[in-house]
Amino acid sequence: MESHQPWSAFLVLSLCAIHFCRGSDLITAEKDVSAFDGKTAVLKCSYNGSRDINSVKWTNKSSNDLIAERSRVDHLSASRIKFVESSGKTNGSIIIDPVHMWDTGTYKCGYDVQGRIPLEKFITLNVKEDDTVKPDSTSLWKIVIPIVVIGLLLSIAGIVFFLYKKGHLRKAFR
Ligand SMILES: *[C@@H]1O[C@H](CO)[C@@H](O)[C@H](O)[C@H]1NC(C)=O
Ligand SMILES: *[C@@H]1O[C@H](CO)[C@@H](O)[C@H](O)[C@H]1NC(C)=O
Ligand SMILES: *[C@@H]1O[C@H](CO)[C@@H](O)[C@H](O)[C@H]1NC(C)=O
Repeated sequence: MESHQPWSAFLVLSLCAIHFCRGSDLITAEKDVSAFDGKTAVLKCSYNGSRDINSVKWTNKSSNDLIAERSRVDHLSASRIKFVESSGKTNGSIIIDPVHMWDTGTYKCGYDVQGRIPLEKFITLNVKEDDTVKPDSTSLWKIVIPIVVIGLLLSIAGIVFFLYKKGHLRKAFR
């Protein structure tokens, strides 16, 4: 029996390599997602294999809650969370609309595929403060700064001209 052990270990390792361990490569996901507060966030995750999919599950790692599940029917934890596709499980991406600052965190996309251990990927969501106000103020500065600079230059030119005319500068140059 002893002599069979290296072979069984080899067998387990090859089975592992072929069937299980590389499994998560069959899921494509966007690892880091950024979104703006009050806007929409798309958490992308899809299965790129040929087996039948039993279910797609999204877990909120902060709360350990199941936030979306598609098996025979859909289970969604909130109305702001939806699957991107109306049916089908190959593309299990979800949309959060609106997304909030406090949604920042890690989410897990899990595929339960026939004949495989569950496949999973982690996605980090980073929600930033909505900066639609900032472009407005920066574009305002783009107008204000040149006006101020041109104004200053004109005043300096005016003063220099005035002093020159009054003769102060003419004297100074002599
Ligand atoms: C999806 O699977 C096909 C066939 O196995 C492979 O050629 C392709 O590179 C995979 N795509 C991704 C994004 O993993
Ligand atoms: C899944 O759907 C999302 C949103 O429509 C899309 O951006 C993504 O490319 C799709 N993924 C695949 C593998 O088709
Ligand atoms: C995930 O859990 C955290 C902590 O409870 C919560 O603040 C956040 O809103 C949850 N995300 C979603 C999308 O429900």
